Amino acid sequence: MATLATASRLALRSAASIKAPAVRALSSTAVRGSDASASASSYTSPFKGTEQKGNKIPDFGKYMSGGEGSNKVFQYFMVGTMGALTAAGAKSTVQEFLVNMSASADVLAMAKVEVDLNAIPEGKNVIIKWRGKPVFIRHRTQSEIDQANKVNVASLRDPQADEERVKQPEWLVMLGVCTHLGCVPIGEAGDFGGWFCPCHGSHYDISGRIRKGPAPLNLEIPEYDFPEEGKLIIG
Ligand code: FES
Repeated sequence: MATLATASRLALRSAASIKAPAVRALSSTAVRGSDASASASSYTSPFKGTEQKGNKIPDFGKYMSGGEGSNKVFQYFMVGTMGALTAAGAKSTVQEFLVNMSASADVLAMAKVEVDLNAIPEGKNVIIKWRGKPVFIRHRTQSEIDQANKVNVASLRDPQADEERVKQPEWLVMLGVCTHLGCVPIGEAGDFGGWFCPCHGSHYDISGRIRKGPAPLNLEIPEYDFPEEGKLIIG
């Protein structure tokens, strides 16, 4: 009995030793097979000539636009939109520039000055400020007008008749800036009954003409008008 058991154990061992290489052979074949397929998918032989599946360019046809017509519509839309945006930007830039460069409200208010002449008695001077400069307004008497007209114009340094310097003889309107170096002359002073500049001694007559001293020209006459009786607008 013992002999029989020993014999059967030996027979089983030998059968097992015969099957093991076969299993090992199968497993190694399977491993080699998987290696081969992996290398075949990542390696492209230049000599094969057969197209691999991984080298094919995908088809993006369904994502592409319908045709040239739809492309043109898109291009026109983009060009139109960009043009409208650019025009709006340019318009706002120009508008801002013009708003910044235009005169402010206080400057515009100073561009013209209205004066009530009824408040200036005859024989008196009034000084107002216009565009940052003094303006002399003289309500002249008849004797002053006569005196201004008596002068020989040809003898003057800056020859100018009195009537060329006034719109209404009784109203003399001129800039109160000495034509020498820009001082403000003093009214009802000097050798000629008009204005005297104390800076360097220039004398102006009752028409504002230079009569003596270093000033080269008569006092300047600004733009002015009498829109109605008793009203003067300078500027
Ligand atoms: S500035 Fe008036 S005389 Fe020189």
